[in-house]
Amino acid sequence: MKVLKVKVPATSANLGAGFDTLGLALTLYNEFIVEEHDGVVIETEPKNEFLEVPENNLFIQVIKYGCERRGKEFHGAKLKQINRVPVARGLGSSATAIVGAIVVSSAVSKTELTDELFFDIAYKFEPHPDNLLPAWKGGFITALKDGEKTYYNNINFPTDLKAVVVIPDFELSTEKARSVLPEKIPLKDGIFNVQRVSLFLSALQNKRYDLLKVAMDDRFHQPYRKSLIPNFDRVVQNGYDAGALGVSLSGAGSAVLALANDNFEKIGKAMSEAFSDVGIDAEYMILDIDRKGTQLEILE
Ligand code: HSE
Repeated sequence: MKVLKVKVPATSANLGAGFDTLGLALTLYNEFIVEEHDGVVIETEPKNEFLEVPENNLFIQVIKYGCERRGKEFHGAKLKQINRVPVARGLGSSATAIVGAIVVSSAVSKTELTDELFFDIAYKFEPHPDNLLPAWKGGFITALKDGEKTYYNNINFPTDLKAVVVIPDFELSTEKARSVLPEKIPLKDGIFNVQRVSLFLSALQNKRYDLLKVAMDDRFHQPYRKSLIPNFDRVVQNGYDAGALGVSLSGAGSAVLALANDNFEKIGKAMSEAFSDVGIDAEYMILDIDRKGTQLEILE
């Protein structure tokens, strides 16, 4: 009987002005080791009793849905889930389970994983291609959904930049983080963001890192979401004071991402301190950009 291991990277969506558009894969991974089994047995590391209940486990739910969609009955699976991506912090932890399960399902059923099949399953569970795609393909991706079709493309990301990810000790659901966004935004804010996304992409291509600070400013989501992130402005400012090149909320938050080519520890500490100043513990991770995306291995 086959044992499969799938390793899926964390992601950071938006990167400031690229709201619902840009996403970056990071070298922090959740792993799912799965084999066929009668009934569902789940082991988690670190131990998480909630995720050991099949109905709560997104990986199992996606596998089940994938089977049913192909007209097959789901008989069960034995799953070992190693969670390293913090949950509900804007680092794509749900996307790791969704993408991992889709890749495993298609390998087990020997079905070619087309974009159409991928999105058909993935969108049932998560509507954001800016998380799903970097988790699947790796690297830095721009994505959009136009009616039924999703268009995306990889963008070169410089190898000398790292992501310092500061993770405060509180969860923030995407649902809540989207509920504070306005229905409409003024034209001037639309122009503000289009200008900055363009500047951001060109700054990365030409290594004009001096432009990243202005290019990662945003008026679509951060001004609204920061009411949910205590001391957000200070976290960002501390990042810049310590040498960050650009700072943004990671996805829908609560983590904050800094791009840097030096001073990584100093940036992580300074930004974490701004959280501890308001009584919130925070840890930081210094990560590279994952270039491989989801990796599947057949163990036996
Ligand atoms: N672009 C989405 C958002 C990502 O910021 O709400 C959600 O994970």
